[in-house]
Amino acid sequence: MRNISEDTITQAVLASMDKCGDARLRTVMTSLVQHLHAFAREVKLTEDEWFKAIQFLTDVGHITDDKRQEFVLLSDTLGLSMLVTAQNNRKPAVCTEATVLGPFFVAGAPEYENGADLSNGAPGAPCFVRGRVSGLNGESIADASVDVWQSDEDGYYDVQKTTEALGEMAHSARGTLRTQADGRFHFRSILAEAYPIPYDGPVGRMLDGLGRHPWRPAHLHFWIKAPGYETLITHVFRDGDQYLDSDAVFGVRSSLIVEWVKHEPGLAPDGSSMSTPFYTLDYNFVLNPAGEAA
Ligand code: BEZ
Ligand code: FE
Repeated sequence: MRNISEDTITQAVLASMDKCGDARLRTVMTSLVQHLHAFAREVKLTEDEWFKAIQFLTDVGHITDDKRQEFVLLSDTLGLSMLVTAQNNRKPAVCTEATVLGPFFVAGAPEYENGADLSNGAPGAPCFVRGRVSGLNGESIADASVDVWQSDEDGYYDVQKTTEALGEMAHSARGTLRTQADGRFHFRSILAEAYPIPYDGPVGRMLDGLGRHPWRPAHLHFWIKAPGYETLITHVFRDGDQYLDSDAVFGVRSSLIVEWVKHEPGLAPDGSSMSTPFYTLDYNFVLNPAGEAA
């Protein structure tokens, strides 16, 4: 294999994978190489641009750790995450739509009883959330696990705050609940607010260079799991948010937009007396039976 030219290089790389024993890996890598080469040809990529791209990816790697997931941000802001989510979550129209996971989910969040306050000190206006998890025909799904996570009124998730700021309290405004026999769950937390995705790194510079903003509309994340049903990863978005039509990660679905109802001080749904305004949010989730395609 010598004297490979710009006209024969693609075929040479594809042929080099002939002995790959993993059929799926070969399919994916063949397509990736073809598209990468086609891209370089189409834009007539210069050496300077190629060096810059390598430097950009190096920067993305350097800033990435278990708390700062710059590769996830890159995938999200390029729409790749939402594309993969959409093409892997085709389901009947009555089912709740999926959206991006994002970089702020934390496995092993505290487990709470229904009615508990998940905010754990995170600042924000009080918000009482009620939901129900059901199947396609409205049947209640009991004992589903419901993971919830959100940012605080300053736009930060607990994992973004310094350990000093949090003290020993590792988790706030996140937790896991279980649905009751009637499929319902409820908890207290704080009002979701719009926030910018982390933009002090290479992905932020990329957005800036492209004339894009880093904001996400206010939302609450859910990850719902129940035996016999497809897992649902989604958010509920706050109606009226100014970023609903320009989400930095392309995750908004109309079916996921809901009103967070504002209440003046008074009696809260949990029977407590509130001295400040508070919010309520109601949303029902419909899961697809495992193995059901749209
Ligand atoms: C989030 O909603 O937590 C999120 C999603 C994608 C990128 C950054 C944050
Ligand atoms: Fe989020």
